[in-house]
Amino acid sequence: MMGGGARMVRIFDTTLRDGEQSPGCSMNLKEKIEMARQLERMKVDVIEAGFAISSQGDFVSVKTIAETLKDCTVASLARANEKDIDRAWEAVKGAADPRIHLFIATSPLHMEYKLQMKPDEVYEKAVAMTARAARYCGNVEFSAEDSTRSDMAFLARVIEGVIAAGATTVNLPDTVGYSMPDEHYRFFVKIRELAPSLEKVAISSHCHNDLGLAAANSLAAIMGGATQVECTVNGIGERAGNAAMEEIVMALHTRKAYYGAETRIATSEIARSSGLLSRITGVKVQPNKAIVGENAFAHEAGIHQHGVLVNRETYEIMTPESVGLVKNSLVLGKHSGKHAFRDRVKALGYELDDSELEIAFAKFKALADRKKTVYDRDIEALVAKESVQVPKAYRLESFVINSGSRITSTAVIRLIHGDRSIERVSRGEGPIDAAFKAIEKITGRRISLDDYQLGAVTEGEDAQGDALVKLRTEGGEVFSGRGLSTDVMEASIHACINAVNKMIYAEREL
Ligand code: KIV
Ligand code: ZN
Repeated sequence: MMGGGARMVRIFDTTLRDGEQSPGCSMNLKEKIEMARQLERMKVDVIEAGFAISSQGDFVSVKTIAETLKDCTVASLARANEKDIDRAWEAVKGAADPRIHLFIATSPLHMEYKLQMKPDEVYEKAVAMTARAARYCGNVEFSAEDSTRSDMAFLARVIEGVIAAGATTVNLPDTVGYSMPDEHYRFFVKIRELAPSLEKVAISSHCHNDLGLAAANSLAAIMGGATQVECTVNGIGERAGNAAMEEIVMALHTRKAYYGAETRIATSEIARSSGLLSRITGVKVQPNKAIVGENAFAHEAGIHQHGVLVNRETYEIMTPESVGLVKNSLVLGKHSGKHAFRDRVKALGYELDDSELEIAFAKFKALADRKKTVYDRDIEALVAKESVQVPKAYRLESFVINSGSRITSTAVIRLIHGDRSIERVSRGEGPIDAAFKAIEKITGRRISLDDYQLGAVTEGEDAQGDALVKLRTEGGEVFSGRGLSTDVMEASIHACINAVNKMIYAEREL
């Protein structure tokens, strides 16, 4: 297995499916397409774009992503039944390389209490449905849900059956994050002995992080012979999340000789992928998170700083550049022209069409008028935000806020809606509350604030405020919006309007 050169491990990204299932991580169609494009740019091998039968929205996004991407396999999840498989195929069939990913649970607990099926029935279903998927598509993945708590002999029988029926990848999920790394390694070695047909197909690992071991278990699976790992950007996912893609990829990259394995991932796209996902979902990465946390490459202790200055390798096992962290360099000023701006945007890795560039450039000019120094991070924040914008049902025309320790806060907000300009006044418990209530009056939408965060894009007195607002609808759906401005009130109002516009866009999508 370890041979001379390193073997390729495929990266199967499920940020848009298992990841999106986690609370607060839902994305709209435009956001999913933007994320999928970034995953393709990062060169993931397979993108699981969604669960086509779960909703009309999921179906449309899987289908659109399938028809958009050219350089990676696009999969849809399906339960092991006719309707799910037919719908999954309908969604992915336009892809350059479509995949149907079907699953059924094989553990005694799941079979008895969840499926209420006997093991023989599960076996029959798994085989018959794999055969159905294989009649549509030459690329079929079968997952034995809760495989790590399954009876090994039964699991091996199911695996042999589905491979004979046409499965080309067999995935063995640690659905509840129960495995220990050494145990997980032995699990992969053992199942390969018990189900020798696995050597003819791709063997996949899918780990959850309930005990904080998802990345370690995925690496153990690779040691045990897995040729594909399933993971998500920033490790988002059900409960404690899925295995974090960046952790697995950088472990293989940094310890290639140890694992005798590598991936196709363009590691310099990791930071951008992580940042894009955070911006889209509004879910921040913990500062000490491996690889993508804000402090992952920060050396605080004097003795460490000294060591790094003398020789980086004293305290750095990988460079910030290798994951795409660029220095926060001073770039453009208010006299910079459109060509220079376009070149800088391109160098940062963003592709904007002419109209997007026009809008971004106008925003850059406005920013350069208000801010002495415009950094790469300012441009990234501005451009990344522009590229995931939804149609603007409402836009801010003007605002006046009155607030102080001895007065009741009031807000006068004027928004443009179509060709109308609408103004409303509201009082509130503080300036934000007053402003959001005025927006509520104008848009006629109930705004229940789920979360509000205010950060800064860069350091410095004139840094841009980066506001995040999460609004909950009466039906319980959460929409996040972001707003940037050197004025924090303006940033907050933009964020609120952005979330309302997403709400309206989602209503139209259905
Ligand atoms: O965790 C799991 O078992 C899954 C499967 C559906 C692949 O997500
Ligand atoms: Zn999962």
